[in-house]
Amino acid sequence: MSAPFGDHVSIVVFGASGDLAKKKTFPALFGLFRQGQLPASVKIFGYARSKLSQEDFRERVEPNFKTKNDKDKEKVKEFLDLCTYHSGQYDTDEGYKELLKEITEFEKSGNVSKPERLFYLALPPSTFTVVASQLKKLVYPENGAVRLIVEKPFGHDLESSRKLQKDLAPLFSEEELYRIDHYLGKEMVKNLLVLRFGNQLLNAAWNKEHIQSIQISFKEAFGTEGRGGYFDEIGIVRDVMQNHILQVLTLLTMERPVSFDPEAIRDEKVKVLKAFAPLNNDDILLGQYSKSEDGKKPGYLDDETVKKDSKCVTYAAIGARINNERWEDVPIVMRAGKALDESKVEIRIQFKPVPRGMFEQIQSNELVIRIQPDEAVYMKINSKIPGISTETALTDLDLTYSKRYSKDFWIPEAYETLIRDCLLGNHSNFVRDDELDVSWQLFTPLLNYIESDKAPVPEKYPYGSKGPKGLRDFLGKHNYVFTDEGTYQWPLTRPDVKGKI
Ligand code: BG6
Repeated sequence: MSAPFGDHVSIVVFGASGDLAKKKTFPALFGLFRQGQLPASVKIFGYARSKLSQEDFRERVEPNFKTKNDKDKEKVKEFLDLCTYHSGQYDTDEGYKELLKEITEFEKSGNVSKPERLFYLALPPSTFTVVASQLKKLVYPENGAVRLIVEKPFGHDLESSRKLQKDLAPLFSEEELYRIDHYLGKEMVKNLLVLRFGNQLLNAAWNKEHIQSIQISFKEAFGTEGRGGYFDEIGIVRDVMQNHILQVLTLLTMERPVSFDPEAIRDEKVKVLKAFAPLNNDDILLGQYSKSEDGKKPGYLDDETVKKDSKCVTYAAIGARINNERWEDVPIVMRAGKALDESKVEIRIQFKPVPRGMFEQIQSNELVIRIQPDEAVYMKINSKIPGISTETALTDLDLTYSKRYSKDFWIPEAYETLIRDCLLGNHSNFVRDDELDVSWQLFTPLLNYIESDKAPVPEKYPYGSKGPKGLRDFLGKHNYVFTDEGTYQWPLTRPDVKGKI
């Protein structure tokens, strides 16, 4: 692990006038400041091509800051005083030289002898290399430390990802690079290692002897609204599966790392990724959303920014297998879709049935880890119906965060966690180069197939529905057993939770 940055740090956000900076980066920096988690003396420089006054810039970022009370509102003012905006080109020297002048002044004001600079590239990938090389040439301190945060997409396929790595490698070392996959900053994702390895009950049962199926599902209740042009080149598999879902799956299936050391964790992640069987072209279900049933919500192809006959996949369910001692033959399903009936990301682990014998009818255990919304871990277990009844029913052992932890408890946003980790020099929740490479090795052949004429045409599903009709069968084929609602005793506190797909 690198040494934590000290108490005098310059942070530069490139792409400061863009959407990501507005919605995620600056709100996260504010959140950290509000919680007293930024270095004692910090200056934040926004840099982008757009010509914005300081006032315009502040008005742009401020509405996304989260405040609960007047004290927080005061903090907004204090925070904005730490920020300045600079407009400059990405490919010429001038803007960088001005930026360097301001950074150096700030460092002089604190008598800093070893400058510490964090560069955050909230930029489209086409500009990564040019900005990184300009930074190296003009703003890289000779005797200090630099960290460079980059955002996905890290390439479009294996070849382009390798090219990007090859271009960045001579400029910034792996130690200096922090590749963000924001799912790794989510609270419940960070909890996975503790849940798995900190509980003998789960630890002991976490293998093919006891687990019957694994499912990770990502559902969004909105379509590509406004992002169609971008999405059309990408599709759901690149957008969330090759990265977010795979990261979650990796943490769920890797072996126990020797410690929480970032490299120990990342070594294990790479190892399990290498054990994945090639993804099978025939083990997929593809969909594209059409108009909602009431006609009010547009279909994907109604978006004027997408190709008229686009076969872009907005829903995918993909079967995976891991060929190692722990997981051989356990069916795994990754599924993700836009414009569905709800927004929810969760993991479902179904356990094998207990021997019947004494029970006429008994269901299997299922562990559900809900990443969002409303983080929760609950385990469906069999229990006797209380009272004179001798029947069994399925019920929950339930750890729903909103019920268990006080509302005042600060659960950082993913981006807050990750920027803080970067300041601390902790790479655990960032993607390493070899990890990225294996994930593209796994997905590129399948993506080539999906985007070829040989692939099935994506099945249409209405906006706001559960997804393609074939989903139930697809899950069934992967050993997923649907809970018999009749025997499931929903806790009184969650009577609204119904329907599991
Ligand atoms: C992004 C994808 O990486 O993740 C988006 O590009 C997706 O399409 C988003 O909506 C989901 O992130 P979250 O944190 O809202 O679940």
